[in-house]
Amino acid sequence: MSSNINRQFRLKSRPVGKIKTTDFDLVEEPVPTPGPGEAVIRNLYLSLDPTNRIWMSDMDQYMPPVEIGAVMRGGGIGKVVASNSDAFKVGDTVSGLLGWQDYYVAGPNDEIPVGVLPAELPVGLPTMLGACGLTGLTAYFGLLELGKPKAGETVIVSAAAGAVGSVVGQIAKLNGCRAVGIAGGPEKCKWIIEELGFDAAIDYKAPDWREQLEAATPDGIDVNFENVGGEIMEAVMARMNLFSRMPLCGMISGYNTDEPMRGDFSPILMRRINVRGFIVTDFLEKYAEATMELATWVATGKIKSQETIVEGLESAPTAVNKLFEGENLGKLVVKIADE
Ligand SMILES: NC(=O)c1ccc[n+]([C@@H]2O[C@H](COP(=O)([O-])OP(=O)(O)OC[C@H]3O[C@@H](n4cnc5c(N)ncnc54)[C@H](OP(=O)(O)O)[C@@H]3O)[C@@H](O)[C@H]2O)c1
Repeated sequence: MSSNINRQFRLKSRPVGKIKTTDFDLVEEPVPTPGPGEAVIRNLYLSLDPTNRIWMSDMDQYMPPVEIGAVMRGGGIGKVVASNSDAFKVGDTVSGLLGWQDYYVAGPNDEIPVGVLPAELPVGLPTMLGACGLTGLTAYFGLLELGKPKAGETVIVSAAAGAVGSVVGQIAKLNGCRAVGIAGGPEKCKWIIEELGFDAAIDYKAPDWREQLEAATPDGIDVNFENVGGEIMEAVMARMNLFSRMPLCGMISGYNTDEPMRGDFSPILMRRINVRGFIVTDFLEKYAEATMELATWVATGKIKSQETIVEGLESAPTAVNKLFEGENLGKLVVKIADE
């Protein structure tokens, strides 16, 4: 790829069902030059997230939808290659909403300010998008601040072999809990037990998954870290204990459809479950401290970080579907350029 071209994926149409490559225009522009107060960033890694699908739609959401014709929004990590800004110097490694493109112009009008990462990092850059990035922070705050797990309690998490879920189970173990994961397929179930130290796993794609759920939670469930929604969430809620907690992090089973998700609320009343929806940005002021703790856990081997890395910006519109087909283990990242 010529380094004087900036490839950009611009949203052409709002996806219906699964994301298609035809939902984007791939546009080539000259590499931008920084205006006053701006810096140009060479994007190195792009984070692919289930919320990309939400941003592509015009459903009611927590940020404005990506406008038709705009560069697709996406988190990423890059290096500053030119700067007219006091906030960035050439060579800085940065993270932020850099978009599905080769280069990003950072400046005072950023939707969310781009942050400079420390020069010396104890973990690799892809991990800074995963266990030590926003997905790790999502697991951290959702579980510790909202789930409030106590030693000896049972914590269950869905999408357990994914970016958020894999960290949730490991933090639950660090807190002395019984960690139970729900994942698709025997390999993922084996992986979360043998590699990550979960106590039990439920393969929701197996016909007997409801029996597996019952066997894995003999004392009921004290914390349900909900990532999936739908019938898995309903079956889990039916096993939740009195005064249990349910951080509602995501509902990925509904993202590819316009149908509203329905569910049985009666366990919330009968068992007085504390259900709390959250977005990781709710905890923005605590990011620095939590990132340090996550990075220390990863660097000292207390939690394992896993990334699935796909090569090339051009693969983003197809690779993002891996999240909906369960083809990722841990954090899904696109490598755009060599470090
Ligand atoms: N609230 C926040 O601030 C926040 C931040 C980040 C993420 N999230 C949410 O957290 C959840 C996990 O996100 P992530 O980034 O960690 O993604 P991920 O878990 O790495 O990837 C998504 C996983 O979801 C599972 N999945 C997909 N469709 C499913 C379905 N219909 N039923 C059951 N499982 C399904 C797949 O695993 P299997 O192979 O096991 O099916 C897939 O690997 C998502 O709901 C996301 O929206 C929320």
